[in-house]
Amino acid sequence: MTPTAFYKSPNRDFTLVEGDTLAVLPAFDFEFDMIFADPPYFLSNGGISVHAGRQVCVDKGPWDKSPGRAAERAFTRAWLAAAREKLSPNGTIWISGTFHNIFIVAQLLEELGFRLLNAVTWEKTNPPPNLSRRVLTHATEILLWARKFPKIPHRYNYETLRAIAGGKQMRDLWRLPAIAPWEKTNGAKHPTQKPLSLLTRILLSCTKPNDWILDPFCGSATTGIAANLLGRRFLGIDADPGFLRLAQTRRAAIDAPLARQTLRRRIQGFQSPSQLETILEQENPSPNNRLAEPGLGLPF
Ligand SMILES: C[S@@+](CC[C@H](N)C(=O)[O-])C[C@H]1O[C@@H](n2cnc3c(N)ncnc32)[C@H](O)[C@@H]1O
Repeated sequence: MTPTAFYKSPNRDFTLVEGDTLAVLPAFDFEFDMIFADPPYFLSNGGISVHAGRQVCVDKGPWDKSPGRAAERAFTRAWLAAAREKLSPNGTIWISGTFHNIFIVAQLLEELGFRLLNAVTWEKTNPPPNLSRRVLTHATEILLWARKFPKIPHRYNYETLRAIAGGKQMRDLWRLPAIAPWEKTNGAKHPTQKPLSLLTRILLSCTKPNDWILDPFCGSATTGIAANLLGRRFLGIDADPGFLRLAQTRRAAIDAPLARQTLRRRIQGFQSPSQLETILEQENPSPNNRLAEPGLGLPF
């Protein structure tokens, strides 16, 4: 059965679907140019921290509770296989994680026939302190980048990334801030919202205007907001309608072109606040083309 949309933006460049990604993904017939996935890391198992002098639980939600190592692996294998089916032959996938889950993801990518391209280390310039003082402060996340087939070439926007890196080759170490308060401005917050600076760089590295981007665990849809700010189209899936409502609110807030421009100028990781605008003009000289044309939505 074709899935129905929880929300579709007026110009159809942003669609949200509610449900278990394992059930939703196989149900429609479409190939995406690129996939970004920020899956559960399975770290919410009753950990305690201290905030403002009081003990607090650091759990993100029931969706992040570990079902046990074997079940974690089976779930990861299942969603990676389902996502691969929906990736175009020259498409690429990015997956974020930490040392807790990312080695399993890397192993499964190879098992499933992907070819690993890079493991990018995202170094957070402002990591939260480690309150236990028993291990090093966790200041990094890993982003695996892989293509669908070993032998079919993928897209890499080498010159764009070289410009962002100030004229040098972009390295696989990215120093970008963790989520900033100005990004959490639309009511309820997502506990693991990714920063727009990270998603913007990822999207600029391997997609082109009007490409279709899939996020199978979209949460507050940072991927979709970044995609639309760059003139790419987006489908996001999440099991939690509360997070999807937040995603919808975030998308409505960038309906006006001026709001999009203002937000773009706040995104960090560029040589200057206007560099992103310059890159977008070079990618697509007609500003009217920067948003997907109405009518070019997903076929459902
Ligand atoms: C790490 S969060 C993603 C956060 C997102 N990157 C953002 O910026 O807001 C993972 C999301 O996956 C969702 N989720 C977990 N298991 C799922 C499943 N089986 N199907 C669909 N969504 C799921 C959770 O509700 C959660 O919002």
